[in-house]
Amino acid sequence: SERSFIMIKPDGVQRNLVSEIIGRFERRGYKLCGLKMVQPTRQLAESHYADLSERPFFGDLCTFLSSSPVVAMVWAGADVVKQGRTMIGATDPLKSAPGTIRGDLALVTGKNVIHGSDSCENAEKEIALWFKDGEVCNYEQVTAPWIYE
Ligand code: GTP
Ligand code: MG
Repeated sequence: SERSFIMIKPDGVQRNLVSEIIGRFERRGYKLCGLKMVQPTRQLAESHYADLSERPFFGDLCTFLSSSPVVAMVWAGADVVKQGRTMIGATDPLKSAPGTIRGDLALVTGKNVIHGSDSCENAEKEIALWFKDGEVCNYEQVTAPWIYE
């Protein structure tokens, strides 16, 4: 099934928002397929945000992402890439609707708590960047018949 790379950024970990954020994906019905805590190297941060390398905030963004541990995750399920982005909200938390993760938990773009892949293609690229073979689990969710029709 469809997969997304979801990451709780350093601010989310420091602010003790890990269970709050994981709980939202669990309660929605998504399946957790990979999870690890890691302090990214600057090189990993730069690879993750390579598409933004020409932007003026790229240096600060990579410094921030590699400044403290993150929680890197793989979530699977129906339309998880797009639905995950909807659950996360807009890049600028002040433009994020209440009920979204950023709309409920963040105030500024540079401290917006969470990352979510923006396409299925990028999700698979990001999963391959952050996880080794064997670190992502493929298993049957026993609750699936009660979540899907
Ligand atoms: P991610 O899920 O983290 O990829 O955020 P996004 O997809 O909502 O936004 P985007 O990929 O365009 O930018 C990645 C991250 O760079 C954002 O989450 C912000 O933290 C940061 N960022 C984006 N735009 C700006 C900006 O205009 N100024 C600053 N300071 N940071 C920005
Ligand atoms: Mg993005």
